[in-house]
Amino acid sequence: MERLVKAIKGSRSLAVLTGAGISTLCGIPDFRGPQGLYKQPDAERIFDIDWFDRDPSIYYRGCRSLVYGLKDFTPGPVHKALKHLEDIGKLAGIATQNIDMLHQKAGSSVVYEVHGSPLLHHCRGCGNEATFSEICTMLEGKDASFVPRCPECGSAYKPDITFFGEALPEEAFRAAQHLAATADVMIVLGTSLTVFPAAGLPVATLHSGGKVFIVNAQPTSLDAQAIAHYPDLLEFAQAASSI
Ligand code: APR
Ligand code: ZN
Repeated sequence: MERLVKAIKGSRSLAVLTGAGISTLCGIPDFRGPQGLYKQPDAERIFDIDWFDRDPSIYYRGCRSLVYGLKDFTPGPVHKALKHLEDIGKLAGIATQNIDMLHQKAGSSVVYEVHGSPLLHHCRGCGNEATFSEICTMLEGKDASFVPRCPECGSAYKPDITFFGEALPEEAFRAAQHLAATADVMIVLGTSLTVFPAAGLPVATLHSGGKVFIVNAQPTSLDAQAIAHYPDLLEFAQAASSI
């Protein structure tokens, strides 16, 4: 990874795009990898807004441990390496597709969650707000298909995670686009680059003359335009942590 380490050291505005692959190192399954969540039948309904409004128990059953067990997960080697790069003043910011809040838990301070986050939930009926911990309390001791509901109108609480069929959080995505377009180096970590517009962020870096490096076990559609594609996220974490 010498070329990547040299690019990090020489960068004046380094950006990173992360995906579910970096959190598999923390025990959280990804979506499209060999053991990915989407290998289960009907799994793509879990984060689909139409299915949520039809039957919110599909999401709550599918995510009970993945989302509401997040308090049991801790940041992994890639999260910690990115915190280190920020500490030595080398990292302008992180755009993440992940909703596990592990970058914040690792101490990173410039994190744009382009697919939202479960930190807040809102009632589908009246917009009533509930925090992640309030929802976790409502779920405690309940069976897998339990749906937390608004005390005012009885509608289901939905996490502020971007579901398929919903628009991305505007402010976060605009900030991520700016980060990508002004980066001279963008490192793509642990994402299949299959879900747009997030997957288009590295292209913004290329369009403004920046370089892209990809670290991902599986090939991606951007490999040919990257300076280099490496398979091993652990190797990246070790290399970045030694800068
Ligand atoms: N080392 C290297 N690569 C890994 C590792 C690992 N330990 N574990 C997983 N990967 C790679 C997989 O090969 C896969 O290509 O990480 C990638 C994860 O890709 P996805 O599962 O598609 O996750 P992601 O790209 O983040 O998904 C994007 O899709 O479902 C939606 O909104 C959801 O944010 C998510 C979006
Ligand atoms: Zn309500």
